[in-house]
Amino acid sequence: MKIKVRVPSSTANLGPGFDVFGAALSLYNEFEVEYVSNAKKTKFIIKGEGKRSLSIGEKSLLWQSMQEAFKVLGTTKYSLNNLNIVINNNIPLSGGLGSSSTAIVGGVMLANALCSNKLDKSQIAELAIKIEGHPDNVVPAIFGGICICSKNEDEEEHGTVVNLPIPKLKVVLCVPSFELRTKRSREILPKMIDMKDAVFNISRVALLTAAFCCADYSLLKQATQDRLHQPYRGKMNPAMNKVLQAALGAKSFGAFLSGAGPTLAAFCSKKDAVNVQNTMENAWKKERVSVKSYILDFDVKGAMIV
Ligand code: HSE
Repeated sequence: MKIKVRVPSSTANLGPGFDVFGAALSLYNEFEVEYVSNAKKTKFIIKGEGKRSLSIGEKSLLWQSMQEAFKVLGTTKYSLNNLNIVINNNIPLSGGLGSSSTAIVGGVMLANALCSNKLDKSQIAELAIKIEGHPDNVVPAIFGGICICSKNEDEEEHGTVVNLPIPKLKVVLCVPSFELRTKRSREILPKMIDMKDAVFNISRVALLTAAFCCADYSLLKQATQDRLHQPYRGKMNPAMNKVLQAALGAKSFGAFLSGAGPTLAAFCSKKDAVNVQNTMENAWKKERVSVKSYILDFDVKGAMIV
């Protein structure tokens, strides 16, 4: 019996909501597992993005996440000697679209499915956050939609998740050809921040919530501004401000660094999406960076066994 799970990409932070806001998007990775009790030779195959660069077998993030889930589920029945695994990656790696989160969520969900789905979504989220370290990609990847993820005070439990209304907007994403590891782009952030910058971000996060709850997208220009991470990450992504300004000039409602970057994202109406996409692409090209771009919808269902 084969089990396949489809996990959406995600864009995190949405500007000011560092480690708190995340949205699931309509570009997917798929992970398949098959239990073979008498296997002589099992397979572990990666297709698409990362087929040559990603680790397979013991070192793969998918397998490590499956193992974490097997520990929680209390089983030692499964190993790479009795499972065939096929990964079909459509999401660019290390770009800020939550590709590694899909492997974590996919791994936990496949292991859970092999064990009769004993874990509910909230338990899956708790484990996935523990593996990932921050919630704002894995939570939307599991629940779908736009999520506010708030950790509990002890930072151990995943705390509260709230789904906001899905806006009637498109999300344009431009993924530049260079990769940026999330680890590196977290290391460059300051340990302390100025009270003025904290107040700036609190106001933007409040506006962002209001923009989605009231479907008032005119708020998004201000609501996607940030002073906690984008100014620092912009130093590793010199075209960032120019491309974001170009997106705003092309009638997008708001533009921001997607997660830890280097992908840049913009919210816009369906009718303006192609123009926003071309404008952002051209702004990157002027900086001599080639990009892959997407016009995506919000994913509303989250990860699913398909
Ligand atoms: N909130 C995380 C960060 C998301 O900005 O580092 C990483 O995708």
